[in-house]
Amino acid sequence: MVNLKGKDFLKLLDFSSEEIQYLLDLAADLKAKKKAGIAHKMHESKNIALIFEKTSTRTRCSFEVAASDLGMGSTYLAEGSQIGKKESIADTARVLASMFDGIEYRGYGQAVVEELAKYSKVPVWNGLTNEFHPTQILADFLTIKEHFGYLKGINFVYMGDARYNMGNSLMVGCAKMGLNFTAAAPKKYFPDRGLIDTCMEIAKETGAQLKFIEDPIEAVKGANVIYTDIWVSMGEPVEVWEERINDLAPYQVNKTLMDAADENCVFMHCLPAYHDHKTAVGKEMGEKFGRDAMEVTDEVFESEKSIVFEEAENRMHTIKAVMAATL
Ligand code: CP
Ligand code: NVA
Repeated sequence: MVNLKGKDFLKLLDFSSEEIQYLLDLAADLKAKKKAGIAHKMHESKNIALIFEKTSTRTRCSFEVAASDLGMGSTYLAEGSQIGKKESIADTARVLASMFDGIEYRGYGQAVVEELAKYSKVPVWNGLTNEFHPTQILADFLTIKEHFGYLKGINFVYMGDARYNMGNSLMVGCAKMGLNFTAAAPKKYFPDRGLIDTCMEIAKETGAQLKFIEDPIEAVKGANVIYTDIWVSMGEPVEVWEERINDLAPYQVNKTLMDAADENCVFMHCLPAYHDHKTAVGKEMGEKFGRDAMEVTDEVFESEKSIVFEEAENRMHTIKAVMAATL
């Protein structure tokens, strides 16, 4: 019997396959309730704090809407709080834990969210760090389960910078849940060796196969899911754009790549995505580096194979499950 009450949600490595499955099932149940208009105010009169040291659309809105659906109040802390400036993480944790029932943190190093959890007596949830983005993976896997009907044995290919939060977390998630994970990137963008070894050990138990391939066309052969993320992540200096584009352009998800995969292959992306030149940054990058300076073409992003908006919606249902289970 899974019981996650009081547990932090900092990274998927801290959770068993059974516990992850429990969260996915709970999310599906809460999603069905929401669609049917069945109230589920399971945590009425509780309050949560949302710390965002980086920007967000999906994660912030998911926490706020999910909190409201569960009957809770939420307080957003970004610019204007004392965190990390006048007050240490340890002190912040103790102050917030005395007023709130749970704390979400989005920021830089994973060590910060781990420190917050160490000093907090209420659950802490990781809303993204440089190293991990675990709530995103729950949404991704719920979406894959809804689309294909199963997770184990899915051939999952991650294109691009596989050594950052998305590549790391997806590799861990695939290893835990028995999906076959392939990272397609130049060698220097492969995940950290230590994390690969840890995932290889987990994969021995679940039957997942982990592969690291430099040739993008070779990597997507038989793929059921092709996933990518923005090439330069939040907090990275703008100067790295040029090198990233030069390194990762062959890994752009375009029609040629999708056509080389399984005919039922879908396209996924955690979002936000550069797929056209309509956003301010997308326009600037297009003007500076040419029209191909983006991780996915508009053609693929807008195609029938793209399930990115189903995936985005599932952020809310899965974040709700994390809060419902741990509070
Ligand atoms: N995918 C994701 O975390 O989106 P936001 O940055 O908008 O929260
Ligand atoms: N790698 C991206 C993920 C955004 C959800 C970033 O950290 O900016």
